[in-house]
Formats: sequence, structure tokens, C-alpha cells
Amino acid sequence: MLGRLNHVAIAVPDLAAASATYRDTLGAKVGEPQALPEHGVTVVFIDVGNTKIELLEPLGEGSPIVAFLAKSPSGGMHHVCYEVDDILAARDHLKATGARVLGDGNPKIGAHGKPVLFLHPKDFQGTLVELEQV
Ligand code: CO
Repeated sequence: MLGRLNHVAIAVPDLAAASATYRDTLGAKVGEPQALPEHGVTVVFIDVGNTKIELLEPLGEGSPIVAFLAKSPSGGMHHVCYEVDDILAARDHLKATGARVLGDGNPKIGAHGKPVLFLHPKDFQGTLVELEQV
């Protein structure tokens, strides 16, 4: 079921500053900011060759990363995203094993224009897991 690691997401309090760190300090190829109101975040993707880094900044009220940043004000690793071929089949398999799917259980369209789902961190070693259909 599980495919490649699509990205590792890092929540940041200041997207411009974090982008500058990756671009200027680390010399990485940093993308343009993309607002995703449905997910309550603005994202920047950084291509690191074998995978991507997704920087996340809160967008709007009730952003899902506000509480995370309250606990980790300088930012921190937020989730990992794995690719799957069939997100509905993956969801149904996971639910059948007792894993919890966040939200209403239906995929939303993610930053790459593809369906995504999030899985409860308590079911995956304390790590929030995103699945993206590719
Ligand atoms: Co993500």
C-alpha cells in the first residue's frame, strides 16, 4: 500500500524567514508560497532531490498548526507524507485495521492538486501521517 515518501512537513512561524534559511543558508531550490485556505496553511515546497520539504505557516483563524506552534514556537516537524496509488482503498484498509482517519474521512485536495488524507498520530508512533494519491 505504502509508496514513496512524498514530503516531510515542517511548521514554521515565519514562512519568508524559513524560506530564506533554506534558500540562502542551505542553498536549496525553494518554490513560491501557495495559500491553501481549505487546509488553513500557506505552503512552500523545497525540492531536495529524493523528496520534498513542505514549510507550513498558519493561514486564517482555526489553522490546524496554530496549536502546534504554540507548543513549538520556533517550529518543528509536523507530518510525513507517503504516496499511495488508491487513497480510498488505503483509507478503507486503514479503517478496517482500526486506524483513525482525521476529519470527515473523505480526501481533500492537497497542495499538489491531488487527494490527501491525514491519519491520527496516536496510531502511528506519535507522527501525523498524510497520504497522497499519485
Ligand atoms: Co503535507
